[in-house]
Amino acid sequence: MIIAIDGPAASGKGTLARRLAAHYGLPHLDTGLLYRAVAASLIAADRDLHDVDAAVAAARGLGLTEFDEESLRGRQMGEAASIVAAMPEVRAALIEAQRNFARRPGGAVLDGRDIGTVICPEADAKIFVTASAETRAQRRALELAGRGEKADYAAILAEIVKRDARDSERADAPLKAAPDAVRLDTTKMSVEAAFAESLRVVEARRR
Ligand code: CDP
Repeated sequence: MIIAIDGPAASGKGTLARRLAAHYGLPHLDTGLLYRAVAASLIAADRDLHDVDAAVAAARGLGLTEFDEESLRGRQMGEAASIVAAMPEVRAALIEAQRNFARRPGGAVLDGRDIGTVICPEADAKIFVTASAETRAQRRALELAGRGEKADYAAILAEIVKRDARDSERADAPLKAAPDAVRLDTTKMSVEAAFAESLRVVEARRR
């Protein structure tokens, strides 16, 4: 069974994907980490974030497991990731590894922006997770504060809105719900309620 979870920044898709993966005993791939890792590798090598050749080389050199999540989850890396993620050549370099991960025996849970539309259009269950930008900014501020990072709510909200626009407006694999995805608005939902609802969606699709 392949479960595809997509949605905008800080919508809670990672939390849901991890919970679903644990529930069904499936491997989970947070595909945002791939784009974050490409950006991190350019920054570490002091390359311009718009350098397509360097970004493609970084994408080709990535494994799917050796991520230093602690540094990749930082606030600036999300913004940098969305710059490299808008390059069709970078996306192309990362497709095969994601599809191989999804198609392993038994299936997998993947979360990102284009899982239901591009990476796994054949997924058994697709959920498009949303929440108001204000709620998402509050959640991200709490998450960053928990990691000891400075979390100015107004700045985070502005960053989230800007990044969603870039992700939605790019020509290649923009952030959007697949026609057969179930939309889950978690603005007023607890993590538990959102998980219960997504389980219900997956179970309904399985039948
Ligand atoms: O955790 P958050 O939702 O803030 O970000 P993320 O899922 O780690 O993704 C970081 C950036 O990577 C996004 O803003 C997208 O530009 C890009 N991304 C993408 O283009 N396609 C994916 N499947 C996953 C992430």
